[in-house]
Amino acid sequence: MNWNEPFDLGGLRVPNRVLLSPLAGVSDAPFRRICQDLGAGLTYIEMLSAAGMAHQTRKTDELVARDAAEPILGAQITGPSPEILAEGARLLMERDLPVDTLDINMGCPVKKIVSRGCGSAIVRDPAMAGEMVRAAKAAVNVPVTAKIRIGFTKNHLTVEPVCEALGAAGAEMVIIHGRTRDDTYGDAVQYDQIRKGFDAVDRAAGGKKIWKIGNGNVFDVESARKMAEETGCDGVLISRGSLGNPWVFRQILENDETQPTVGEWEDVLLRHIDYHCAFYGEGHYAAIRFRKHLLWYVKGYPGAKAAKPELSVMESMGAIRERIRAFAAALPADLHRYPDMEERKRAAEADPKFEMDRDHDRGVEHYEE
Ligand SMILES: Cc1cc2nc3c(=O)[nH]c(=O)nc-3n(C[C@H](O)[C@H](O)[C@H](O)COP(=O)(O)O)c2cc1C
Repeated sequence: MNWNEPFDLGGLRVPNRVLLSPLAGVSDAPFRRICQDLGAGLTYIEMLSAAGMAHQTRKTDELVARDAAEPILGAQITGPSPEILAEGARLLMERDLPVDTLDINMGCPVKKIVSRGCGSAIVRDPAMAGEMVRAAKAAVNVPVTAKIRIGFTKNHLTVEPVCEALGAAGAEMVIIHGRTRDDTYGDAVQYDQIRKGFDAVDRAAGGKKIWKIGNGNVFDVESARKMAEETGCDGVLISRGSLGNPWVFRQILENDETQPTVGEWEDVLLRHIDYHCAFYGEGHYAAIRFRKHLLWYVKGYPGAKAAKPELSVMESMGAIRERIRAFAAALPADLHRYPDMEERKRAAEADPKFEMDRDHDRGVEHYEE
């Protein structure tokens, strides 16, 4: 698998096949930039609600901001019907800095979203999934893609009919997360079902190339290779594997598992902070937003656990910078992250916090009735 090969997404040139997922509460402009610096081929704004696009809230404005330095950018939207989805997509594209591609979220498990017929609720109805793609394509002039789960419930997988509908409707790319809405992160990724979905996409495409992207448990070189071998995907979409770990893109692209040294870790983290402050300012709000990144970044170094309580209450960006410098200075500059690879594996395992988050309004606060 050559992850470095560019691809043509309906006229948009994507420089490689290792993509960053839309991540609610995480994939803001500063995080996307640091991932782009480390090689991410395409990055996304977190999921937006089509209905919410009609309301000019500060939250929505912040979410859809694109940094001038971002080379290409995707947005992701969800809606309860093709009409509402199309209208939201139109409003999104009318903004000052329109995006280059639009993904339709058919995978979000959050109760508040699903109960309105959005997110993963859409995979219950393959015909509706196809209609959503048709409506979005008619509303915008950028490539339209879809991100799905393999089914809503464990015992009723809809991946094949949904993929057939998406292929027939002319989606330019289909991203499959190999779990159902019922599943937790503790459940295995079903590679065989992802492959079945991709085969269905191809069957329905009638010879047209539709890009096939695998998602779920891609954390490193080995798991990316596994995804490619087991599913026949054209590329991978990285989610939890990127948290506090923008190096994952470079590692997969260079097929080199080498972890950053303390010196490089500090440089990249301070650069992420510079991007963060340029976007959010230096104040308290910026510090609160950065805390979670900080906790993810220190994983894999001695002293990370002990530092956690202090890091989770840091009040200013100045104090965060100082703390990082002190943290790094206490370690040998050439020490690689995750000296204990077993710890790396444990860190990649299910994080109970994400299970909790999915029942809250994870990143969908701008959603309006
Ligand atoms: C914090 C967080 C936020 C997420 N936000 C989104 C989102 O906005 N849109 C989306 O399609 N998926 C979202 N996801 C789901 C991931 O994109 C992905 O499908 C899922 O985590 C499986 O991949 P992984 O096992 O590599 O993490 C989110 C996941 C996490 C952990």
